[in-house]
Amino acid sequence: MDDPELTVDRIAVGGKALGLDADGRATFVSDAVPTERVRVRLTKVAKRWAEGHVVEVMLPSPDRVVPPCPHASGQPRCGGCDWQHVATAAQRGLRVAIVEDALRRIGKLDTAAIDIRSGPVLGAHNYRTGVRMLVDGDGHLAYRQPRSHAPYRPASCLVVHPLIDEIIQTARFPHATEAQVRVGALTGDRMAEVTPSVGSPVVPNDLAVIGRDELGRRSVAVREIVEGVSLRISAGTFFQSSQTGASALVAAVRGALAGTDRDGLLIDAYAGGGLFSATVGVEWTDAGGELIAVESNPLAAADASVNAPSASVVNQRIDEWRPVKATAVIADPARAGLGASAVDRLVATTAPTIVLASCDAGSLGRDARLLAEKGYVADSARVLDLFNQTSHVEVVTRFRRAL
Ligand SMILES: C[S@@+](CC[C@H](N)C(=O)[O-])C[C@H]1O[C@@H](n2cnc3c(N)ncnc32)[C@H](O)[C@@H]1O
Repeated sequence: MDDPELTVDRIAVGGKALGLDADGRATFVSDAVPTERVRVRLTKVAKRWAEGHVVEVMLPSPDRVVPPCPHASGQPRCGGCDWQHVATAAQRGLRVAIVEDALRRIGKLDTAAIDIRSGPVLGAHNYRTGVRMLVDGDGHLAYRQPRSHAPYRPASCLVVHPLIDEIIQTARFPHATEAQVRVGALTGDRMAEVTPSVGSPVVPNDLAVIGRDELGRRSVAVREIVEGVSLRISAGTFFQSSQTGASALVAAVRGALAGTDRDGLLIDAYAGGGLFSATVGVEWTDAGGELIAVESNPLAAADASVNAPSASVVNQRIDEWRPVKATAVIADPARAGLGASAVDRLVATTAPTIVLASCDAGSLGRDARLLAEKGYVADSARVLDLFNQTSHVEVVTRFRRAL
């Protein structure tokens, strides 16, 4: 198969640039930046579309940069970040374009009527305070190589917090296949959750290590501070990928709830360890309102009870939860999004405002469509750079009940 030359003119959901080949086939190209003329090694060709990656840049975009991370170029290379070759400021615009595209094409919404904007500028280096990595055959933490399952062990990682970088550089987890490392940026706490079991790790003295097989029987936690609130995050509990990102997300959710009466009932759906309940949610209970946090994972629900003592924590799946009348809902589902049955439960609260935090543009599009079909109109979306140097988006979208 020849390597065709083509011009990519826009970004697609998923972070690849999109152009038409000589036969009019939509071609999704990784490692490319919109407006570039590139030569593409095709890896999949279907009748109407194809997929590939850049082998030569004929005409570079002004937004193309030399990757700041030495592990993001050369062969073999690290596949941990897919946008190291894009200037950080330009990444913001591309993420907004991805979200606009998802709301318009998948959500079928009139995006001209939605205020879609980037959130605050967040750091692009040393920001990650939580990371899930492979463990290679020698027990070292590793990412994957691009478009491959093969491990790549970076000597150091540019996007993680220095307290995690030290673990990448020095720790060994023999016999493990995967490890999730989390640190408290403002406390210095560190922990690692190792799959399948702890084994005999070689780690810094202060690193608390727990095996995935021990979750629920033994507990290990770090503390992180967001808006001055100290949060317990146990191994097994979800937490945002960075402290700065968690703070920006809380601020965006608060912004989306501006003007909502604090004396009613707020539902924090998919509450995790209670990030929103312990910060924005407290504004409801302080004002004489009520706060219900719904979370399916018992470890996270236990953290939410500790972190947000004024919330009534319900340890249940949203799609099994019995809805109650509410004045506002925050929903922050996992990557798959809400889906129809959770949308039904949230809509049954009759809340005038639903604030949806999405970490996947495709599922945002699908959920936005489901909510629109139930009479909820999106009026604002804040696109947050929680995953700088990658095409991943985090979006806070506000929906108002129209009827
Ligand atoms: C993206 S996390 C958000 C957590 C929290 N809002 C935060 O920002 O830290 C999604 C959470 O939803 C929980 N979850 C997944 N499926 C659920 C369901 N069907 N019902 C309720 N919670 C669910 C997960 O355990 C996880 O804690």
